[in-house]
Amino acid sequence: MKIILFALPGNETLTRSLAAMLQAEQGEAIIRHFPDGESYVRIISDVKHKKVILICTLNQPDIKLLPLYFMAGTARELGATHVTLVAPYLAYMRQDKAFHNGEAITSRRFADLISGTFDSLITIDPHLHRFHHMHELYAIPSSVLHAASTLAEWVKAHIPLPLLIGPDEESYQWVSEVAGMAAAPFLVLQKTRLGDSEVKVSSPEIRNYPNHTPVLVDDIISTARTMIETVKQLQFITPKPPVCIGVHAVFAAGAFDALKEAGAAQIITCNTIPHPSNSIKLDKLLAGAIAGTAGSKE
Ligand code: R5P
Repeated sequence: MKIILFALPGNETLTRSLAAMLQAEQGEAIIRHFPDGESYVRIISDVKHKKVILICTLNQPDIKLLPLYFMAGTARELGATHVTLVAPYLAYMRQDKAFHNGEAITSRRFADLISGTFDSLITIDPHLHRFHHMHELYAIPSSVLHAASTLAEWVKAHIPLPLLIGPDEESYQWVSEVAGMAAAPFLVLQKTRLGDSEVKVSSPEIRNYPNHTPVLVDDIISTARTMIETVKQLQFITPKPPVCIGVHAVFAAGAFDALKEAGAAQIITCNTIPHPSNSIKLDKLLAGAIAGTAGSKE
């Protein structure tokens, strides 16, 4: 079955690259806002009997969700047989528990919305913590891709003697995998979150690796407080400034500069969210997964 890829605003570069790799049609659509803030959506290309792939990374999700919903519904009305969301970064994975009475478990509510809108989902390293598998949240089939091997290749190619460091227990899953693939040692620290943008990180046992370059690895850099606290701790223990690697460059306002100022030697991210720090491209990984869905009969 033919596939057709549409870029939601801000995803044009990735979509062009994926369409070229897959030799697939890139669809034409108009998505804009009226002066009153409501969305206007028009699909121009023919989608009848095609598998529609909407490419939309989901940082800043609240503003993106309605146009995405309108695109998916309109594609179906126009005869698309299947509508897949490719969200290299998947939002609302971190509030996976009600910490206080009455709090929304937004991971669940967001998953309900996406599951009701799309037939399938492709994403990269979703922040699975208290939920261990996507099917515990999402009612639609999801392909979960991992950046680990591409990160490991980057580390091997750019850092001669790396010591990989995960800033908290949650990062164990990423850092241990990347370290294994890069054949490098790793440490995982302990983090205490004191508020939205305040964290404390335990002192690492990095003294055992005096000649290694510390390479911090995490899935998300958002306020960057996790990385900043880790960088600050490391300054007391090793003179080598660390390289900071994040899969998803969420970067709240001012976070990137604050991390640079804190002493990161380099800040490297993957292109799941467009940002000047994107040095690691995951286009091939995504193209492979899209090609997989194109062949399926779902
Ligand atoms: C949470 O456990 C994640 O793995 C990251 O450590 C966290 O999201 C980073 O957030 P921030 O940059 O706001 O410290």
